[in-house]
Amino acid sequence: MPAADAPEWIRDLFLTQAGEVQPYWRSRVGGAVNLANNEMRHPRVEELIRAAAARLLPEDWTSYPDYVRARAQFAELLGVPADRLLFTAGSDQTYRAVFQALTAPGTQVITQVPNYEQIFPYAALGGLSVHGVAHRPGTGFPLPAFLDAVSRAAPGSLVTVSNPNGPTGAWWPPHDLEALVDACAARRCLLLIDEAYGAFAPATVLNLAPRRPHVVVVQSFSKAFGLAGARLAVCVCGSPEVADHIQRWNVTNPVSGPALAVAADLAGRVTEMADVYAELAASRARLRELVPELVGGRAEESFGNFQPVRCPDADTAARCVAGLAKRGFAIRHLVRFGLPEYIRISTADLQTTDRLITALEQTVRDTPRRSTRC
Ligand SMILES: Cc1ncc(COP(=O)(O)O)c(C=O)c1O
Repeated sequence: MPAADAPEWIRDLFLTQAGEVQPYWRSRVGGAVNLANNEMRHPRVEELIRAAAARLLPEDWTSYPDYVRARAQFAELLGVPADRLLFTAGSDQTYRAVFQALTAPGTQVITQVPNYEQIFPYAALGGLSVHGVAHRPGTGFPLPAFLDAVSRAAPGSLVTVSNPNGPTGAWWPPHDLEALVDACAARRCLLLIDEAYGAFAPATVLNLAPRRPHVVVVQSFSKAFGLAGARLAVCVCGSPEVADHIQRWNVTNPVSGPALAVAADLAGRVTEMADVYAELAASRARLRELVPELVGGRAEESFGNFQPVRCPDADTAARCVAGLAKRGFAIRHLVRFGLPEYIRISTADLQTTDRLITALEQTVRDTPRRSTRC
């Protein structure tokens, strides 16, 4: 808890919203290979970014971005109508913008648990109530439970899913998702589909949004194009009127010109990116095959650029994370997502993945065996 150093009147009149929400400052683990945040780690993508950044013009830096031009350009790149598209600083900000523009205090948000963590403080800030549908180890998110929750929702509720889900990697194929789209329409709910990890799954539903007015799909450039530092997501709405309504209260300059220019450059490199995605899928398959055996755990299929692994217990998970940190790799313990037995490892080029696996072998070997492996 921070020191209570603000005068009482400031606390009483202005600082009333905090509740359980803690301030969050991201920081990097110095020197470690970061396989904890699902950023894209691939030398070919680094080369493409370096080349795209070298092509930036002074006016990309000196001028406010031309969002009208960028809108037309990204609409063409993604094959969606320009009048339904808008930009946000990452998909994180899409949640903020959608919650602010399309809900009122008391609106119910139906979502997966776990899901992207910031949904919960943003809902709290808007006075929204959250109804969670829980992940079930072994089966993912039960669609019938979700459909049931939607069938009982008040009209005007907001339903949101990440697909593939972060942090579990669970994925609903388009025909399952369409059942949810139909259920939301029947109950007059809005559906926000977060495809931050869509590039790593067999299919996306970006093309669904322009056909269904109550659907909003957001695709981030953070994971799919290695641009987490650039802060850019494209949000595609089911109708121009919904897009206009969100844009009305969107940040005036949500995304920087250099971020737009580099992202457009990368989005045009379909063949090169396909090779990268294939290697990351091979990395995920290798992690899924080898890590569970090493830690004495189990892994379900993941459709993101990461592989979660269920360790025998929370202690084993914590010791894997600590052992790898000592050997220069940051991976994620999913304790904050309510999954204390789980670790999650981001995919990378195969060479890096093999080095991670060697470091995990050493961790297992060097840790005195008790009841568990790490
Ligand atoms: C499921 C999911 N959605 C959204 C985000 C936010 O990413 P960004 O704001 O970089 O697009 C994340 C980040 O980890 C995530 O895991």
